[in-house]
Amino acid sequence: MRMPVIALMALTMTGSGSAQDWSWPEKPQNLKVLPEEWPGSRLSPVMRGFTRSLGVRCSYCHLGEEGKPLSTYDFVSDENPNKDRAREMLRMLGSVNDHLKKIEPSGDQAVNMWCHTCHRGRPRPMTLGEEISEQYRLRGVDAALAHEQSLRDRFYGRGAYDFTNEDALNLLGYQALETSDFEGAIRVFRLNTERFPESANAWDSLGEGYMRSGRNEEAIQVYRKSLELNPANRNAKEMIATMKGEE
Ligand code: HEC
Ligand code: HEC
Repeated sequence: MRMPVIALMALTMTGSGSAQDWSWPEKPQNLKVLPEEWPGSRLSPVMRGFTRSLGVRCSYCHLGEEGKPLSTYDFVSDENPNKDRAREMLRMLGSVNDHLKKIEPSGDQAVNMWCHTCHRGRPRPMTLGEEISEQYRLRGVDAALAHEQSLRDRFYGRGAYDFTNEDALNLLGYQALETSDFEGAIRVFRLNTERFPESANAWDSLGEGYMRSGRNEEAIQVYRKSLELNPANRNAKEMIATMKGEE
């Protein structure tokens, strides 16, 4: 039986371009961290591991153009700054793993740390909160929410980000409040209560969003919802009392 086309492609793909006219160098010329005497064949699984761990192609660290054959790449060159970053990461990993060996009871049973341990398919391993907070700073609330959704679509259930609690969107909402972006904050907090309807904290924050933008009636309603879920929520009680007092 012939091999299915897909399987053939998986075997011959090198993560970028095609393997035509290109093979791993017999003797790499510019290894500064990996053992100098390693033949190219030993580099192959390492480089493929890098691309998989970071979710990138060879061109992310090497001089070459995406989509062009690998034979046009200059793998010896250090011109792409990500190559040196990756070297530093390798050195860091070496020292972390050495350190782990010295810690009891890890010792020789220490769990190894890999690129994947932190990166999990992303070039810059950030928490969900950091990701969307950065987008908010750079591009505002629409972009932050779109980014959250796209990360969710791509990474949900893969362990790269923690989608299991209300913290990230809650933080984003407060970030918006800090810049007096009340409408943005309310949108974020409301989405959070849709995602986590059982979270008293999410409802409490939505209450604060409404209150800070002067929508007391909605704030009271929402604070009551939070109290229902967590009768010990003192803040919600106090805020309701304050707003009632203002009436
Ligand atoms: C995350 C960054 C990164 C990615 C992605 C990556 N490499 Fe590398 N590559 C390196 C680093 C760093 C070195 C040098 C290691 C050292 O100095 O010990 C290297 C070295 C090499 C070398 C040896 C060059 C020489 O002669 O010195 C080859 C060949 C190579 N990579 C091929 C590839 C291929 C093919 C891919 C895609 C499948 C790839 N690399 C993906 C970081 C990367
Ligand atoms: C302990 C966690 C950790 C491990 C393990 C780790 N990295 Fe990283 N890496 C990071 C962090 C954090 C950053 C972002 C640094 C910054 O703020 O610019 C990063 C950034 C990078 C970058 C730059 C990406 C960019 O776009 O700026 C490269 C390349 C990289 N890592 C490669 C690797 C490789 C290859 C390995 C495995 C040899 C590795 N990392 C292992 C935490 C880690």
